[in-house]
Amino acid sequence: MGKRAIVVGCGGMGRAWMKNVQDNPRCELVGVVDIRAEAAAQAAADHGLPATAAFTDVAKAIKALKPDFVCDITIPEAHCATTVAAHVLKVPTIGEKPLAHSMAAGRKMVAAAKKSRKLAMISQSRRYDQQHVGLRDAIASGVIGEVTTVNCDFYIGAHFGGFRDEMDSPLILDMAIHHFDLVRFFTGRDAKAVYCHEFNPKGSWYRGDVATSAIFEMDKGVVFTYRGSWCAEGGHTSWNGNWRVVGTQGTLLLENDKPAFGQRVKPGGKTGFHSEHEDIPIATPTVNGGGIAGSLNEFLDALEAGKRSASVPQCQLADNLKSLAMVFAAIRSSGSGRRVPVSL
Ligand SMILES: NC(=O)c1ccc[n+]([C@@H]2O[C@H](COP(=O)([O-])OP(=O)(O)OC[C@H]3O[C@@H](n4cnc5c(N)ncnc54)[C@H](O)[C@@H]3O)[C@@H](O)[C@H]2O)c1
Repeated sequence: MGKRAIVVGCGGMGRAWMKNVQDNPRCELVGVVDIRAEAAAQAAADHGLPATAAFTDVAKAIKALKPDFVCDITIPEAHCATTVAAHVLKVPTIGEKPLAHSMAAGRKMVAAAKKSRKLAMISQSRRYDQQHVGLRDAIASGVIGEVTTVNCDFYIGAHFGGFRDEMDSPLILDMAIHHFDLVRFFTGRDAKAVYCHEFNPKGSWYRGDVATSAIFEMDKGVVFTYRGSWCAEGGHTSWNGNWRVVGTQGTLLLENDKPAFGQRVKPGGKTGFHSEHEDIPIATPTVNGGGIAGSLNEFLDALEAGKRSASVPQCQLADNLKSLAMVFAAIRSSGSGRRVPVSL
């Protein structure tokens, strides 16, 4: 019998999680929760659960169904209340990004998980994509020497309609968390300070600032430059962004979701105005499920291993707070026009 799961939040992403839980032989879906009773009832029916498995309150669902874990797939503003409620009842959690809608809420969630001593993870699903693991492994192998510089470009003209069109910082708040978390994943470095300029380009169909240029100072002198826009027509990048990672001995590129490509100084090669370079072969790694299937597997590995677990799963709340801090520091910097520390 697999681990018993409740999914909280029956919107688009909640339904993707219900499918993931049901597709994974290591767990089973035993209940669903949504503040909208009709959404919970419909999700239960659509996933083959009895009407008694649909709830409007997470604590009541936990007491009735005694799950092994809770998936918090609510809106960001509800993440804190949902995840804290589960930890008060000593139930492990895995939740969607962003950790929370504010640093204060994120800190409260970290404290609740610390107190319950139960596993608490955020699913940063892009960490599990094969190309991303390949780039991370190549950097860690030292094949380009020590990393000095990372650039990410993200340019997509996205006509969502709805709440994003009205938000203050749609790109940074709703999207850039993926890229800010990825730079920490790729390099293993955390951000120390940022200067960010948000703006709303001429012709924008958004109310808030939907474009940005940000310079992050990371640990060990690494500089990360992020340029992005959600109202750039033509020449779209990948949703994962296009990346350039420069090291002391070479460069790695990750563009348009193709496998990473790199060049480095050829050992013993010709010198001169340009050094002689050679291509870097980058292995395609095996991953245990990509996207949210990958994060669910990592969570289940840790849950099954329990106290015997030697490895620490990625994106536990206290660690993920460091990615969230990049988001809020960037917004603070843009508002003040100053370089600001990335503080927890
Ligand atoms: N990883 C990704 O690529 C990705 C993509 C889309 C969304 N997301 C994230 O997934 C989460 C959910 O997004 P979505 O697109 O499904 O949103 P959504 O608005 O479609 O659904 C959210 C659901 O949560 C419910 N809800 C709100 N407050 C609640 C509460 N207190 N208790 C229980 N249910 C509550 C709402 O009624 C709604 O049904 C967000 O954090 C979002 O950022 C991640």
